[in-house]
Amino acid sequence: PATRYYEWTISQQVTAPDGFERPMLLVNGKFPGPLVEANAGDRIVVKVTNDMVNGTAIHWHGMFQNGTNWMDGTTGVTQCPIPPGQSFTYNFTVANQWGTYWWHAHAASQYVDGIVGPLIIHSPDEPHLDKYDQDLIMMVSDHYHTDSASLVAWYLSTASEGVEPVPDNGLINGRNSFDCSLATEALIRIINTGSFADFKVSVDEHELEVIEADGVDMVPVKVERVPIHVAQRYSVLLVADQSKGGGEGFWIRAEMNTNCFNVENPALDPSVKAILRTSGMAPQEIPTSKDWEESAWSPHCDDLKTEMLKPFFARVAPQADIQVVLEMSFQTITRDRVNMGYVNKTSWRPQLNNPTLLQAVEGDGGGVNSAIVFDESQLVVTLETIQTVELVVNNLDEGAHPFHLHGHIFFVVATGDGSYMPGRSELRTENPLRRDTVTIPPYGYVVLRFVSDNPGLWAFHCHIDWHMAAGLMMQFLTLPSQVKVRKYRWDF
Ligand code: C2O
Repeated sequence: PATRYYEWTISQQVTAPDGFERPMLLVNGKFPGPLVEANAGDRIVVKVTNDMVNGTAIHWHGMFQNGTNWMDGTTGVTQCPIPPGQSFTYNFTVANQWGTYWWHAHAASQYVDGIVGPLIIHSPDEPHLDKYDQDLIMMVSDHYHTDSASLVAWYLSTASEGVEPVPDNGLINGRNSFDCSLATEALIRIINTGSFADFKVSVDEHELEVIEADGVDMVPVKVERVPIHVAQRYSVLLVADQSKGGGEGFWIRAEMNTNCFNVENPALDPSVKAILRTSGMAPQEIPTSKDWEESAWSPHCDDLKTEMLKPFFARVAPQADIQVVLEMSFQTITRDRVNMGYVNKTSWRPQLNNPTLLQAVEGDGGGVNSAIVFDESQLVVTLETIQTVELVVNNLDEGAHPFHLHGHIFFVVATGDGSYMPGRSELRTENPLRRDTVTIPPYGYVVLRFVSDNPGLWAFHCHIDWHMAAGLMMQFLTLPSQVKVRKYRWDF
């Protein structure tokens, strides 16, 4: 195994990803930030220097961090923010996992301002390696012309009445026009690095063959459009079809779902486009292709749906040992009349300089005191032994919520409308979808199962950045007696 070493400096700079100038937070002056690429089993070392005015931390979304919980980069949970002017070196081994991941700031709402980038893990064991020659990354995201701190301040005030900030634009790979030239068979790794909006991604007149979801290989399935919520990833195979008018280009479309917006932004064009150039297309040429709705090109498949996804390496969901039932909702129950997100009775408030991992630590070397009583703003479920946890999440809100569990892949054994009814709602345990970020339908539910074999404090939260800021987050403390901690110091 190799060591992949990176040195990053994060700073605030004025840039204009879509032509509109605004201050953004950039890693090494770039947006999106640098690609982190490694093989399964490699060590990743990233020295992060904070040149901003606020503290920060970087999270490696989807990395298991088995044995290195304190490298998970989550402020308020696994670490204190890296203070301005100081550095922290992330250093962890990639488990035997591969596929499409990403990294982002996990401090306040900083990732909305630009601290995001792709994280790709390769392995000779990938089952679909021989199916493509070209490996492309396509990050789609909503984009705002106002800095996120101002947006959060407004959202968490009575003025917003609980209505989320609405994007001003959408971006593909950090721009709102983007070209990619296609040789033959390509893998496109779609990552939603956005903050709020989900997208539907399609390529005119080309089916997309989905082969990976959140780092889990899938039995290939062909669809026209791939709906993707915040923090989710899909790899799709695309074969450039010269027979449909060789030398032509095609539009790649990322259609932003505006149904979740409670206010209108008349300036917003929800369709973000990119050009897929096949060989022979002149550089200035613009595609004339039509999207699926208008095109006569025999559509015989449809949008990707959860039921269509079957993991390539089949696994039966283990029997549940315990069940944890959660209810998520938005409520205005505080004295200041602000609408906050709740998991059960708790709205998460990070204690930045006393993260739960450090609160739980008994000594210097390791072992966590599971009897610790966390602050009332912290819902922490403690799992003392290795067991299969069945997590029922009922969504009492009118919106869909992409929930992510740190450090784990879960089995999605059920999802549906209304609240989960034990014994009545159907469970899929045969070879259910496994992933790390699941969309919980509006007024709907999911039933997830995961094995609590990874010692640490793991965040479980809605990945919509505004909702995280509103407290829609909780934690699992897994195998407390085996949690390792390292006292770290800031390198100057
Ligand atoms: Cu993308 Cu809490 O993470």
